[in-house]
Amino acid sequence: MLDLLEREVTEDTHWTERFSQRAQGMHSSIIRDLLKVTEKPEIISFAGGLPAPDLFPREEIREAAFRVIDQHADVALQYGPTEGYRPFRELLVRHMARYGIQARPENVLVTAGSQSGLDLIGKLFLNPGDHVAVESPTYMGALQAFRAYQPKFLSVPIDADGLRIDRLEEVLRRGPKFLYVLPNFQNPTGATLALERRRRVVEMASDRGVPIVEDDPYGQLRYNGAHLPPLLQLDAERHYGGGVIYLGSLSKVLAPGLRLGFVVAPEPVIEKLVQFKQGADLQTASFNQMLAYEVARGGFLDGHVRRLRRAYGERRNAMLAALERHFPKALRWTRPDGGLFLWVTLPEGQDASLLLEQALREKVAFIPGGPFHADGTGANTLRLNFSFCAPDRIEEGVRRLGKLLCRAPLA
Ligand SMILES: Cc1ncc(COP(=O)(O)O)c(C=O)c1O
Repeated sequence: MLDLLEREVTEDTHWTERFSQRAQGMHSSIIRDLLKVTEKPEIISFAGGLPAPDLFPREEIREAAFRVIDQHADVALQYGPTEGYRPFRELLVRHMARYGIQARPENVLVTAGSQSGLDLIGKLFLNPGDHVAVESPTYMGALQAFRAYQPKFLSVPIDADGLRIDRLEEVLRRGPKFLYVLPNFQNPTGATLALERRRRVVEMASDRGVPIVEDDPYGQLRYNGAHLPPLLQLDAERHYGGGVIYLGSLSKVLAPGLRLGFVVAPEPVIEKLVQFKQGADLQTASFNQMLAYEVARGGFLDGHVRRLRRAYGERRNAMLAALERHFPKALRWTRPDGGLFLWVTLPEGQDASLLLEQALREKVAFIPGGPFHADGTGANTLRLNFSFCAPDRIEEGVRRLGKLLCRAPLA
């Protein structure tokens, strides 16, 4: 037995000591690990950022898949251009124009989800030791993507109106390679960057010559209030453009399993991203791009987004009402205008991962907030997703969490 163990350890180091330096700083994302647990149907999961499966447009996708194979199999099953299927890029340009994204197809690179866009951006811009400015908290998948390129993170705190302008200047002064921002219904907090702050962020970043990476998978999923202009648009109005790289995704408005996202950037940036993408995966799946194009080309997405807004708006309301009913009054939580998440802050000194241990025993899951902070803070915070569960499950899950929270301090 001992012999066997020793052999396993030796075999382990046989591989690990050959891994690159960049591999040493990498670890599995807590979200991916948790999702393995929460896939079990008996768990009420507020953990992932999963769209509701009952809202996937199955029939439209099924019909489009038949059309693609019947009419375009030679192209759909073949290698295609790295930039993406041209009609699909043109469609993305038309669709995103409604939201203020002004671009030409030459400015668009189709990626395997926006996650892959984040990785390509890290690869293009970051040398080991470079600074990247991020919101605190921010999307943990972006931290994971950038970490592979060994940067140092500079955290800018956010509040209910997004990035805190009074803390931005000191970070920009340190010359980060770029500023990574989620202006709409931010993952994880649900916060939206207020209009006046958007203008200031664009102005300040541009004055310091710091590019902005604007990550916006949720912008179309607004449940109240008016759409706000993206940073890309504000930058274009002020400086004729060039300072913002925009990332979009079809994951939350169509289906994440298709793995379709896109980067909008000035042509020299796209050209270079294309070279890296060639090395990474040659191209995004032709079939999936043509499928999405077939589904969306008659204007389907606009109606579908309206349906999603109604359904997710109801789920957000259900979660907010359940929190009022079941959570201790001393806790604070956000009231997002859109997106898929809200954010709970426990009293200082409490630990959300202890709550998670207890919650999993009660068959409820969520994500503790710590890993969303590049600076190691946030142990007393947690993220709740409200898109995946139906309203009655939301009520029951929040009730169980509330009971735990009323019981004992989590320190
Ligand atoms: C802020 C943000 N960016 C990017 C992604 C990656 O999305 P995808 O790769 O599915 O487009 C997510 C997924 O949840 C996200 O929340």
